[in-house]
Amino acid sequence: MNIPDLQIRFQQAFGRTAAFVARAPGRVNLIGEHTDYNDGFVLPMAIDRNVTYVGARRADSIVRIESANFGILTEFDLRDIHKSADVEWSNYARGVAHVLQQNGHVLTGFDAILWGDVPIASGLSSSAATEMATVKAFEAAQAGRLVIDGVSAARYSQTAERSFVGVNCGIMDQFISSLGRAEHALLIDCRSLEYELVPMPAGASVLVVDTSAPRTLAGSAYNERFAQCQEAAKIFGVTSLRDVTPEEFERRRGELSEIVASRVEHVIYESSRTLDAVQAMKTGDLVHLGQLMNQSHDSLRDSYAVSSFELDTVVNITRGIRGVYGARMTGAGFGGCAIALVRNDAVNAARDAVLADYPRLTKREPNVYVCVASDGANWYSI
Ligand code: GLA
Repeated sequence: MNIPDLQIRFQQAFGRTAAFVARAPGRVNLIGEHTDYNDGFVLPMAIDRNVTYVGARRADSIVRIESANFGILTEFDLRDIHKSADVEWSNYARGVAHVLQQNGHVLTGFDAILWGDVPIASGLSSSAATEMATVKAFEAAQAGRLVIDGVSAARYSQTAERSFVGVNCGIMDQFISSLGRAEHALLIDCRSLEYELVPMPAGASVLVVDTSAPRTLAGSAYNERFAQCQEAAKIFGVTSLRDVTPEEFERRRGELSEIVASRVEHVIYESSRTLDAVQAMKTGDLVHLGQLMNQSHDSLRDSYAVSSFELDTVVNITRGIRGVYGARMTGAGFGGCAIALVRNDAVNAARDAVLADYPRLTKREPNVYVCVASDGANWYSI
C-alpha cells in the first residue's frame, strides 16, 4: 500500500485526517554475523522496504494502532503499559513506548495505521523496523518537541526487544534501521557505537533470496549461542570476545570444549573479516569482498552452526553463476534470507538460476529481490 492508500484507510478507521508519516527500513547484513553481541564489528545496509505509520496525534495518553497487514486494531494507555498476550506485533510498539518513558521522555498518544512491506519473520528485521518506526511516530506525534538522536533511538529499541519481546538481540538491526543511508553500508563498532558510512561499490547489486523456510529454532538457538560466547569470554577473563586476539585464542583454544572453541573461532575471525571487507569496498575490490562473504558463510555453517539446508542451497546455486562475487546467509540464520553480491549484468542469470533450481532441490518457493541501500528512519508531516 502507498501513502495515499494508507491516508484513506486512516480516514476510514479513525474518522479524521492523518497528519504524519513515520517510517523505518529493514536491513540486510553484508558481513559481520553474530559479532554484535560480542562487542565486535558489523557491516549492514538498510533496504528499500519499510515499516510505515500513517497517523495523527491525540490529546490524551491513548495509542491506537491498526495493522493494515493483519487487519487488527490494538490499543494501549501510556500511563499503564502491559505486554499483549494475543496481539504479538503490538509488543514492539508497547515496548518502545515503555522504554522511552522509563528514560524520561514525555509522550503523547496517537492513532495510526501501520503497514510494512519488510517480509515478516524472514530475517530482514521487520521487528527492528517496527520499533524504530514507533520511535519516529512518537516524535511525529509531538511535532518536533521530542527529538531522539539516532544512537539513543537504536538503544531504546534494542532494550524494548530484549525486555518486552524477550530476545537477547545485539544492536545491529535497530542501529542500521535508525542510521542507514542511501547508497551506503554502515560499519558499526558495537562496543563504542561509533560508526562509519561506507559507499556501496559501483557495478554490483545485492540479491536477496528469502528461503521461505520457517525459522523455528531461531529464538532458542540464538540465546544458546549468546550464552556460549559469554561462557567463553569468562574463561578468557574478559567481558566480551572482542578482547580476545586470534593469537590468544589459538594459544588457549585447548581450554575450551570443542563446540565452544568453534563458536569462538567464528566470532573472532568474523570481526576481522568485517574490517577487511570495509577495505575491499573502499578500494572497489569486489572479488575480495565476495571471497570474504563466502568465508563468512562457510564459518557460520561449519563453526557457528547456524545455517540450514535451504540457506546452503541458495549459496551453492548462486556461487555457481558467473558474475556472482560471493554469497552468504544474512541475519541470525536457521532459515530466513541469503544474499549474493552480483555483477550488475549477471543479476538476471543469478535470479533465474535460483528460481529454477531452488524449488527443485528444496520443494519450497523462494522470494527473490534486488535490494538497494536506503535511508534510515524518519518522519514528516502530511
Ligand atoms: C539477529 C539479531 C542481531 C544479530 C544477528 C546476527 O538479527 O537481532 O542483533 O545478532 O541476528 O548477526
